[in-house]
Amino acid sequence: MEIYVDSANIEHIRHAATLGFIAGVTTNPSLLGKEDSSMDVKQRILEIHKLIGGHLSVEVISTNTKGMLKEAEEIVKWFPEATIKIPMIAEGLTAVRELNKQNIPTNVTLVFSATQAIAANNAGATYVSVFMGRLDDISNNSTEVLNDICEIWDVQDYDSRIIAASIRHPIHIIEAAKAGADIATVPYKVIMQSLKHPLTDAGLEQFLADYDKMQTERQKVISV
Ligand code: E4P
Repeated sequence: MEIYVDSANIEHIRHAATLGFIAGVTTNPSLLGKEDSSMDVKQRILEIHKLIGGHLSVEVISTNTKGMLKEAEEIVKWFPEATIKIPMIAEGLTAVRELNKQNIPTNVTLVFSATQAIAANNAGATYVSVFMGRLDDISNNSTEVLNDICEIWDVQDYDSRIIAASIRHPIHIIEAAKAGADIATVPYKVIMQSLKHPLTDAGLEQFLADYDKMQTERQKVISV
């Protein structure tokens, strides 16, 4: 399972890019707005693209097909490898079908059920983003929904790639990997949290202390 960063924060993305295992970035209007409400979106997206190089999903804000297609046309002018993030609404699926014909990759976002995921795949989506945290927020079991979707993908041999999104904690990453999601898009804070273990820190501290002790003993022997 690949890991993307779910962020529009340049410092976080810059650091995440150095970690060696990040394959892309997903953004959305809320993530962009959280950074700076007066931001030049195009500039920020290009800055992120330069940093990460890999997958970058950019979300449209139109809710009608024509508007979505116009925005997509503009975004691919910014950088041709862009993946266009389209909301899971009927008008969005029509846009996905059209963009698929033009070989422009799409990421259908705000997917909360298996039937929505099937529709997105059949419309020609490249990626289907299943929101885990928001399902859990309303007491729906996100693991069950994701398991169903991944099972359907196996049985049907669907081509689109499943992104586990709305990740809130490291257990979501584990559940997504067990279910068979292709990608988990993870907030920076959760990425860093997922790398930590108290036994790693304690173990490293001990190794370094033992090495220091060894050096001190060696110095004593040499100076006798
Ligand atoms: C990613 O594509 C989504 O926009 C994002 O994961 C949503 O996360 P949230 O539910 O924490 O806002």
